[in-house]
Amino acid sequence: MESTAATKLAMLLSLIFKTNICKIRLGSCKMGPYFPKWLRTQKRYDRLDISDAGISDIIPTWFWDLRNKFVYMDLSRNQIRGNLRSELAYDNLNVSWNQLEGPIPSILSSVSALDLSNNKFSGSASFLCTSTTKDNKLRYLDLSNNHVSGELPDCWILQQLVFLDLSYNSLSGKIPTTMGYLFSIKTLKLNNNRFVGELPSQLKNCRELTLVDVGENKLSGLIPEWLGENLLNLAIIILRSNQFNRSIPPQLCHLTHLQILDLSMNNISGTIPKCLNNLTTFAQKGSSTLTMEHAYSLWDYINEASLTWKGVRSKYQSILGLVKSIDLSCNKLSGEIPPEITYLVGLVSLNLSRNQLTGQIPSRIGNLQELDSLDLSRNQINGRIPISISWINRIGYLDLSENNLSGKIPIGTQLQTFDSAYGGNPLLCGEPLPRICSEEEKGPRQFVLVNEDDKDGLITQGFYISMGLGFAVGFWGVCGTLLLNMSCRYTYFNFLTFLNDWLYVNVEIIRQRILNK
Ligand SMILES: *[C@@H]1O[C@H](CO)[C@@H](O)[C@H](O)[C@H]1NC(C)=O
Ligand SMILES: *[C@@H]1O[C@H](CO)[C@@H](O)[C@H](O)[C@H]1NC(C)=O
Ligand SMILES: *[C@@H]1O[C@H](CO)[C@@H](O)[C@H](O)[C@H]1NC(C)=O
Ligand SMILES: *[C@@H]1O[C@H](CO)[C@@H](O)[C@H](O)[C@H]1NC(C)=O
Ligand SMILES: *[C@@H]1O[C@H](CO)[C@@H](O)[C@H](O)[C@H]1NC(C)=O
Repeated sequence: MESTAATKLAMLLSLIFKTNICKIRLGSCKMGPYFPKWLRTQKRYDRLDISDAGISDIIPTWFWDLRNKFVYMDLSRNQIRGNLRSELAYDNLNVSWNQLEGPIPSILSSVSALDLSNNKFSGSASFLCTSTTKDNKLRYLDLSNNHVSGELPDCWILQQLVFLDLSYNSLSGKIPTTMGYLFSIKTLKLNNNRFVGELPSQLKNCRELTLVDVGENKLSGLIPEWLGENLLNLAIIILRSNQFNRSIPPQLCHLTHLQILDLSMNNISGTIPKCLNNLTTFAQKGSSTLTMEHAYSLWDYINEASLTWKGVRSKYQSILGLVKSIDLSCNKLSGEIPPEITYLVGLVSLNLSRNQLTGQIPSRIGNLQELDSLDLSRNQINGRIPISISWINRIGYLDLSENNLSGKIPIGTQLQTFDSAYGGNPLLCGEPLPRICSEEEKGPRQFVLVNEDDKDGLITQGFYISMGLGFAVGFWGVCGTLLLNMSCRYTYFNFLTFLNDWLYVNVEIIRQRILNK
């Protein structure tokens, strides 16, 4: 029904304009399942959009004989089958999300934007060399999610290229050194392939790089220092699931725009650098200014990144500016969690699990007010869980399991709801664990604990003590008689402990507010 209506509409249009149509825009008009034959009789158009039109057909041979010089052709989101041939001259070609197969034709010399993603293209990537020339105008190339295999040829002289996505193919061998000639490149995605060897140092010439994703390959060697020394625009670094070894270079702290750092599942040892507080984007709350929309092509492309979020791997695009995440999980990091990490108040997700971290959880972890997900599980962290953790109102995922934490789990609005967050810490006690704390484990009265190295003068230890005393006097005045009733005593003590925590938390929040003014 719909399809004939659309066809009729198009024919009507073509009649009205005789053969003078220059644009055919029928995106999302269902006209399938056959390839629209009336296109054959149209001669002059140079823009064609029949995306998401329900076409599940092989591209007919007459289509390749059209003599049009296309400025723009969008056949995306259909189920078009068959091969792609190089006869058509395009400027922007988008055939993503179809069932196209066979080798990729040598068309790169004529296009400026090419999206072949999410098809079944196969064969080698050698077309890159046979069809690129020095005055190439290619700015955007997306071959992701295909079956392209073999080594990448070493002929990357595409000086206009801004966006390159080769992810989710079967590419192997080393990352070619000529990629260092991609002087304009901003987005480089080589993830989910079988690349080996080191990141070539020539990449340090690609100073515009904002996003580098080489995750899920077999890359090895050091995490290069030049990432932090030369590529100062980097906002997203994803090296996850490779075999990078040795320590995290402190040079990464120079990357003031950094907002996603994923080094998980490598063989990284050493300590977490203390200079983390220099990462200014992490140290600011709210959305970053990172613009994730690009207009390299006539269709809009929104950058996306794959992240593990609360244990689920998903893709983020429109909200990417809000995602500030550090994932160093599954490595061999040792030493303490540097207290400097608590300056990164914009951090939304922190995953340090499955390392060999020791020492205590930084007592000011509660400064990370934006934190939605905190995973410190499977380390050797000891000491008490800082009470400040209960200030983090937004926390939606917490895992502290398989450590050596001890003492009472602080009371907080959500802390008692994370049932599986505390297991494997034999010395922990209190809700939600079944083990009841002894008096000793409950710890000292908490308002006396507040101190650390505050130099704020306005609110001192005395402030807390006097507040605590004032409270105690008032409380006893009203409820002291309760104590005389033995059966109430137990409940009362539980209540007092709770009140104590509650008081501490609220005072701390007020104090934070005053300090932040
Ligand atoms: C780090 O990786 C490189 C390259 O695979 C290897 O030669 C080197 O021995 C590794 N170093 C360590 C300490 O594992
Ligand atoms: C961190 O920032 C301080 C002050 O801006 C600077 O002196 C220091 O060199 C920086 N450290 C690193 C590792 O970037
Ligand atoms: C990780 O590094 C250790 C040496 O530090 C080495 O023995 C081991 O083979 C490495 N593992 C991988 C997967 O590279
Ligand atoms: C942290 O990383 C580990 C391993 O990479 C993963 O299994 C876990 O789900 C991650 N935690 C969160 C909260 O995403
Ligand atoms: C765990 O912590 C306790 C003290 O809190 C300490 O005595 C013990 O040695 C620690 N165990 C390990 C395996 O680190």
